[in-house]
Amino acid sequence: YNKIGIIGAMVEEIELLHKHVEKTGSFAKAGIEYVEGMLHGKRVVFCKSGVGKVNAAVCTQLLIDAGVDCVLFTGVAGAVEPSLNIGDIVVSTSCLQHDMDCTPLGFARGQIPFQETWEFHAAPELVEIASQACETLFPGRSVKGKVLSGDQFVADRGEVRKMHEELGGACTEMEGAALAQVCVMNDVPFVVIRSMSDKADGSAHVNFNEFTVQASVNSHRIIDEMLKHM
Ligand code: ADE
Repeated sequence: YNKIGIIGAMVEEIELLHKHVEKTGSFAKAGIEYVEGMLHGKRVVFCKSGVGKVNAAVCTQLLIDAGVDCVLFTGVAGAVEPSLNIGDIVVSTSCLQHDMDCTPLGFARGQIPFQETWEFHAAPELVEIASQACETLFPGRSVKGKVLSGDQFVADRGEVRKMHEELGGACTEMEGAALAQVCVMNDVPFVVIRSMSDKADGSAHVNFNEFTVQASVNSHRIIDEMLKHM
C-alpha cells in the first residue's frame, strides 16, 4: 500500500494519531481536516469524520479522492455478539446498514433496494493483518465478524438480540457500513477495527462514557501494529 487512509469518528479515536504520525502536511475539505504524514515508514492520511453515516461517507470519498489505496477505520462499538465483553475487539469481515429498512416493500432488513449487494465485504488481506495485530497485542480477545451500522446509539437489550439473531452482527456502531459502501463503490480495500466500549444494552450510555477512552486506545494500538506489516 502506497498511501493508507485512516479514519476515526471521534476525537478520542484519532488523537493518538496526532501524537504518533510525523506530519508532512494537511488540507481541509467539507469541514474535515485531513492530516498527511508518515507512520512506521508508511505514507498515511488520517482524519476525524464526525459521527454517523453521512459524515463517514463524505469523509471516505474525500480520502479516496486524495489518493489513498486502502482505508482503515479505528474506533469503538457496542457489542452485539453475546460472548463479547467490554474491551474485546471486532475486526470486520463485512459491514451492513441495520437501519436501512424497506421491509414494507418486501425487501430484507438492511437491503438497499434495487442493489445486488448490501453487505459490504472487507479486504481479506487487511482482515488478516488486523487479526494478527489483535492476537499479538490482545491474545484471545478479538473476533472477526459482521459490523452493523446505523444512525442510532443502540441501548436496548431486545434490539441487540434481534441484531444478533436476524442480522448476525458482532457489534454495532454508526459509521462502518457507510465507509464500507463507499470503498466498495470505488473498489478500494478497507477494514474496520472496533473495540467494545459497551454492550448496547440499558447500561450502554454509562459504559460508553467510562470505557470509550480505553477502547479507543486499544483500537489505535491495533492500527499502529498493523502499519508495521502493511
Ligand atoms: N458506539 C459505541 N457504542 C455504541 C452503541 N451502543 N451504539 C452505536 N454506536 C456505538
